[in-house]
Amino acid sequence: MKRKLLAATVVAVGAAWALDALAQVKPETLVKQRQAAMTLQLKYFGQLFGMARGRLSYDASIVQRNAGYLDVLDKMPWDGFDPSTKNVTVKTAALPAIWNEPAKFKEAAERLQSEVSKLVSVSKGGDEAAVQAQIGAVGKACNGCHDNFREKQ
Ligand code: HEC
Repeated sequence: MKRKLLAATVVAVGAAWALDALAQVKPETLVKQRQAAMTLQLKYFGQLFGMARGRLSYDASIVQRNAGYLDVLDKMPWDGFDPSTKNVTVKTAALPAIWNEPAKFKEAAERLQSEVSKLVSVSKGGDEAAVQAQIGAVGKACNGCHDNFREKQ
């Protein structure tokens, strides 16, 4: 009984702390974090793109590893596009379309996740041509969103 109570208290304190932590994240921090997640996506996708372009030699084990990393990274940036960040003073390339067309933005994020999931699957098979094609599909999903929702660089 006592132990149960203690467990319940620990859970409650943990949840309160988590809510509190979320509430306190400054919009500027959210921008920095979403940009950091994007930067890491580029790090691990960039190697794959280099292989697909023949600029880096093909390495199936790196493809598998990076596909797995991307499968996690592609879930991270989105909660950083909180409405509280609309008017931040820090540098951001996020376009208002993100908040004006949220369904379309979400769809573009889901497209990336689905293409990366497919890359995870094909990277486990030995078909290099299929992997190269799927790397291309992931790249299209990155660009598909940037074209509509990121300021031109
Ligand atoms: C659903 C939309 C969407 C998808 C998909 C997407 N991005 Fe982005 N990306 C953005 C937006 C919006 C920004 C601008 C963020 C900002 O400046 O606040 C951005 C910014 C970036 C940046 C610049 C980060 C910085 O430091 O300013 C890089 C690099 C990047 N994305 C790489 C990628 C790669 C690689 C992929 C695919 C694996 C990808 N993105 C997929 C929307 C997307």
